[in-house]
Amino acid sequence: MIFKNLHMFDDEFIPNKIIGREKEIYDISSAIRPLFNKMPGQNLFIFGPPGTGKTLCAKHVLTEISKSSKKIYPVYINCWVNRTRPAIMYKIMKSLGDFVPRRGISPDEMIDDLNRTLSDSWGVVIVLDEIDKTEDREILYDILRMLNTNIVLIGISNLNSFEIDIDDRILSTYSPKRIEFKPYSVNEIKKILEERAKYALSPGSYNDDVLGLCAAIGYNAGGDARVALNALLSSAKEAQMNNMEKITTDIVNKVRQELFVRKHVNDLKGLEKKVYDCIGNGKTSSEIHNLFPDVTERTIRNILSKLINKNMLKRIKLNGNRYRYVKR
Ligand SMILES: Nc1ncnc2c1ncn2[C@@H]1O[C@H](COP(=O)(O)OP(=O)(O)OP(=O)(O)O)[C@@H](O)[C@H]1O
Ligand SMILES: [Mg+2]
Repeated sequence: MIFKNLHMFDDEFIPNKIIGREKEIYDISSAIRPLFNKMPGQNLFIFGPPGTGKTLCAKHVLTEISKSSKKIYPVYINCWVNRTRPAIMYKIMKSLGDFVPRRGISPDEMIDDLNRTLSDSWGVVIVLDEIDKTEDREILYDILRMLNTNIVLIGISNLNSFEIDIDDRILSTYSPKRIEFKPYSVNEIKKILEERAKYALSPGSYNDDVLGLCAAIGYNAGGDARVALNALLSSAKEAQMNNMEKITTDIVNKVRQELFVRKHVNDLKGLEKKVYDCIGNGKTSSEIHNLFPDVTERTIRNILSKLINKNMLKRIKLNGNRYRYVKR
C-alpha cells in the first residue's frame, strides 16, 4: 500500500502546516485585523506565478477569520468560474449568511436586503481569486460601494500588471497594497513534500531522494509546489499500479519524462489536441465527455490529468465532486 490518504493531494486540500509563507500570511491578516475593531481594513492585490501558495494562504486566512469571529464574513470567489457581474454578485449574496435573493426584485432592492442582513456585522472580506478573469472591472467598484459595512477586497492574480486594465476611478477606490508571492526555493518545496507525504503516503513507501527529485521538478518548473506535488502523486500512482511497495527515483524519472515535459500547444496530437481545443473558456469533465461520446470517460479523464501535469490545464473544484477545466 503506497497511499494512506489520496485526497490530500487534491489541489483544494488545505494542509495543517503551510511552509515558508509566514510573512505573507501575516501581511494578509494585518490588512484584515482593523475589521475586528470595526475599523476599515486595507485592500490587497496578491500576485505571483502558479503554484506559489496564493490561493492556499488566502483560504487559510478566511478559515481563521470564520473561527475567530461571527461578525466578520468571509467570501471566496474564483473568477474563472464566476466571471460576469451578475454571477459574482449572486455568489457574494449567497455566501453572506444564506441570503436568498427573492425573485422579481431589483438589484438595488437586493442590495438593501443584503445590507439589512449585514447591519450588525463588523465587516466582510471578499477574495476574488484569478481576478484578471473578471469580464468587467466595474464589479470591483460595485463591490466596494454597495455594502454599508467595512470591506476588505483581496484580488489574486498571476499577473503583476493587472492594474493597467483598471480605470483610475476604480483603482482609486480599490487602491490595494501589493503582496508578491515569489517562487519557492527547492528546499521549501522539499519541506512541503515531506509534510504532505507524512500524512498522505504510507511510511516506508518513499525516501528522501524521491522527495528531492520531485522537489527539483517543481523548482525547475518555476518554484511551483503544485508541479512537485503532482510529480509525487503521479509517481506514487505508477508505483501502486505496478504493485511495488516503494516509489523509486527510477519511477519519478520515468513519470517525469512522460508527463512533465511542458509541451507546446502545437505539439499536441489526436484526441489530446481535440480535448484541449474544445475547452475554450473552460468546461466541466462531463461537458467535455459529451463532446466525445465514442470515447470512454476514463480515457477523457486520463487525457485531462496529463494536460494538467503538463501545466497546460488547471482544474477548479465546483460543488460536490465536479470540476471545471480551464486553460493556463
Ligand atoms: N507553503 C505551502 N505549504 C504547503 N502546501 C503548499 C504550499 N504552497 C502551495 N502548496 C500546495 O501547492 C498547490 C498549489 O498551491 P496554490 O493553489 O495555493 O497555488 P497558487 O499560487 O494559487 O497557483 P495559481 O496561480 O496557479 O492559482 C496546492 O495543492 C497547495 O496546497
Ligand atoms: Mg490559485
